[in-house]
Amino acid sequence: MTMHQHLLTQNGFVRQDDLTYPFEERGLQFGDGIYEVIRVYEGTYYLINEHVERLYRSAEAIKLTVPYEKKKMYHYLNELLQVNDVKGDAKVYLQITRGSAARDHVFPEKPEPNLYAYVKDLPRPKSFLESGVSTITQPDVRWDWCYIKSLNLLPNVLAKQTAREHDCFEAILHKEGEVTECSSSNAYLVKDGKVYTHPAKKNILHGCVRMRVEQFCRQLNIDFIEEPFQVEDIHEADEIFLSSSTAEVMPIVSVDGKSIAGGTPGVITRKLQQAYEEDAGLTAGSSIFSSNTHA
Ligand code: PDD
Repeated sequence: MTMHQHLLTQNGFVRQDDLTYPFEERGLQFGDGIYEVIRVYEGTYYLINEHVERLYRSAEAIKLTVPYEKKKMYHYLNELLQVNDVKGDAKVYLQITRGSAARDHVFPEKPEPNLYAYVKDLPRPKSFLESGVSTITQPDVRWDWCYIKSLNLLPNVLAKQTAREHDCFEAILHKEGEVTECSSSNAYLVKDGKVYTHPAKKNILHGCVRMRVEQFCRQLNIDFIEEPFQVEDIHEADEIFLSSSTAEVMPIVSVDGKSIAGGTPGVITRKLQQAYEEDAGLTAGSSIFSSNTHA
């Protein structure tokens, strides 16, 4: 997978090899920072406004000043794709930390945030999108403020690693049986034609794709119910799926080694996948939204 040469930093663009950080860096030592992962399709950002807005919300929540004003951020993010001549499907990873300073839990007196953003080519996960993925359930041992997209991802990393050790794509996280989200995506259950998902409270990440899924449901006359579901509901579900900027709308066909609804992606999931593709400009065919309004 190609890693493009030019990185955006707090001081403008640098080449990959020229980027050096001191070892006393607050992102490295405390996870004292925030990040975003933004999808790019055919050289164009998808949901860029949602990601930039969330970045500034995360920054505010941890009392971090983003080195650029929003307008400049948009400008630089677009330039990042241009200087790297990105024409295909990719992802941009952007992180901002509270900067380099002698290790002390207390903020430095005058923080100078470190920012970097890079682009990596990333094809769509087409075969998974077609067949669906397997998952396991894992306890959600994270803190109460998961709406902040912070660099503190150790619980997420451990949950995803456990999933991988079980040949699974994702870990569905639960707090005492109540499903919150997945290790790096949001989780949904479909029952009797209605979509259930954990409410956008402080204990989950308010996914950019989740916001779109809600909108698609509204447009397609599918009830979108922000009520948490339980691990024990999963095997009674008609469908389960997850969403994220890299996984899109991804069918889940197995949980903890047991298949969901016969092990094939469900009808509502398929509709939402179609809606996603249309919204992201990935299809040229007929519109699922217009066909729905005529239904
Ligand atoms: N993950 N929940 C968690 C815990 C996440 O880390 C993510 C995103 C999501 C989905 O958010 P969005 O729809 O805005 O991508 C939900 C990114 C892709 C990552 O960390 O790689």
